[in-house]
Amino acid sequence: QDPVGSTQSVTVTVTGAAGQIGYATVFRAAAGALLGSGTPVRLRLLEIPEAARAAEGVAMELQDAAMPLLESVDVFDDPTAAFDGSEVGLLIGARPRSKGMERADLLAANAGIFSVQGQAINNGAAENFRAVVVGNPANTNALIAASHAPDVPAERFTALTRLDHHRAQAQLALACEVTVNDVDGVAIWGNHSASQFVDLSRATVKGNPAEEVLAERGLDRKWIDEFFIPKVANRGAEIIEVRGGSSVASAAHATLRHIRTWLRGTEEGRWTSMAVPSTGVHGVPQGVVSSFPVFCQDGDHRIVEPWEIDDFARERIERSLAELVEERQAVEQLGLLGPRA
Ligand code: NAD
Ligand code: LMR
Repeated sequence: QDPVGSTQSVTVTVTGAAGQIGYATVFRAAAGALLGSGTPVRLRLLEIPEAARAAEGVAMELQDAAMPLLESVDVFDDPTAAFDGSEVGLLIGARPRSKGMERADLLAANAGIFSVQGQAINNGAAENFRAVVVGNPANTNALIAASHAPDVPAERFTALTRLDHHRAQAQLALACEVTVNDVDGVAIWGNHSASQFVDLSRATVKGNPAEEVLAERGLDRKWIDEFFIPKVANRGAEIIEVRGGSSVASAAHATLRHIRTWLRGTEEGRWTSMAVPSTGVHGVPQGVVSSFPVFCQDGDHRIVEPWEIDDFARERIERSLAELVEERQAVEQLGLLGPRA
């Protein structure tokens, strides 16, 4: 049974549940923002042993909120137990980067987490299990987890670029002095990193081509290239700089929307952005966990095709793919890839 619109309860494992994004996510998940207001949820909170007591505190607060949809909440410091029977995995737990840190610095620190969790998922997760990896470097961590879970279809491991998608919508709306309700059709390609390609080629503003609307405002392709794309792609770093810490509530919101859209589907003819294992389309080698514009239907995701990719976009996408290949090589050298790799 798939959790799409289910009235039976769904088992959701949240890793890093005592961390910032975890804390921001679990209350909204228990309030219906993940699976809808008709679907009860059983939460399984995974933390490292040092933070398990703090996770107990989160569980206590969840109980204190007396949320009608929250059927149960349990705390674990053992991944195998936490993923036993799990249907949805929110893989958030990992160290965030701090000021001045590059995402590559996170590879060695975080990648090991996802091999262990991939094995745990392979051992005991439910047949309909689906995961979104939030912990950075998210695309490569999703690759690692999938490589250790050969019995779970690889496409069930995805990574979060919905936050980048939302950032692109918001910046486009700001530039055109409209609300996000008036913009549509943005797409994120590649890595959840500064190398990502933010694609406006099929975006619209009030139904008109976004590039034309921007041009009428004196914002040409040079502006898109030199201001808009870097603004979106470096927003994570900008938040760290301005807020003094990595994004939390916006990341939690995107995580909830990612799963909700995956399970409930995209609207007819409209796409979202998700990092998913490439099926070999659009020149992205098969298996590379890259962000794409995707349609979602019946609990599946499908990369949008056809999509015209001009020379400018191609060069940008290739740049991000090269970074993903480098990340893959780095984790391979660390011996972190599993049997499916
Ligand atoms: P945080 O430090 O507040 O929380 C992380 C939590 O993960 C901590 O409580 C820690 O104990 C726990 N943890 C660490 N290793 C674990 C393991 N092996 N199993 C279970 N839990 C474990 O960090 P945060 O602000 O919540 O960020 C979490 C991650 O999300 C970071 O890697 C951050 O860079 C990433 N992030 C991704 C996006 C995205 O769009 N993909 C956006 C924002 C943040
Ligand atoms: C973000 O995009 O906000 C996060 O991935 C944090 C970061 O390190 O950029």
